[in-house]
Amino acid sequence: MTIGQAEVEAQKKAAADRALELVRPGTVVGLGSGSTARYFIAGLADRVRAGLKVRAVPTSAESRRLAEESRIAITEGIDGPLDLAIDGADEIDPEVNCLKGRGGALLREKIVAHASRRFVLIADETKLVGRLGRGPVAIEVLPFLWEATSRAIESLGGRPQLRMANGRPFRTDNDNLILDTSFGAVDAPLGTAIHAIPGVLEHGLFFGMARAAFVGSATGVRVLGELA
Ligand code: A5P
Repeated sequence: MTIGQAEVEAQKKAAADRALELVRPGTVVGLGSGSTARYFIAGLADRVRAGLKVRAVPTSAESRRLAEESRIAITEGIDGPLDLAIDGADEIDPEVNCLKGRGGALLREKIVAHASRRFVLIADETKLVGRLGRGPVAIEVLPFLWEATSRAIESLGGRPQLRMANGRPFRTDNDNLILDTSFGAVDAPLGTAIHAIPGVLEHGLFFGMARAAFVGSATGVRVLGELA
């Protein structure tokens, strides 16, 4: 589906605003990364300014910066699960599995999602797919012997491309590299196989992790999955 950028942005914001309704006083909330998560952080900042008390765990240096600027209290020392994590996605399938990592924050995003009682996606409708794999899978790898890791990924049927930024290899917040790897349609066993390769730190396939997704559309925000 082709929709204009203004409509895409309006849908992202509408989805983020719905997710804000899940934040209660005292919530420990994971802050996702990317342009949709930015709307959520901005909305949370408004609520904090209005007196809401929450603690947040950012998933990237950029989200941390935004939270700090807005005086959202940041914590990384938690003695139990986070109540909630809200994040964007690059692709979402009908079972609310998703593909993430275009922004390069997938490792911390997955740690936060896994550590949360509820992981909820926010997105515009261009992110909906019948099956994950329309775009490449972002794979974070250790720089040490990364070419060997890349060859091992290739042996699984992928076509890894080292992500570049400003003419140099892109470095994640964890100082690692990203291999953007096209596989075609992907499934959960592929994620397990990628994970088993030494040198792979994480991949952007999130199977069975999100409980629900708020997805903007021309007719309002749709809820996929179960929020309860
Ligand atoms: C960051 O690494 C990504 O996982 C983002 O969450 C994802 O790419 C969605 O980003 P947008 O909301 O900018 O599309």
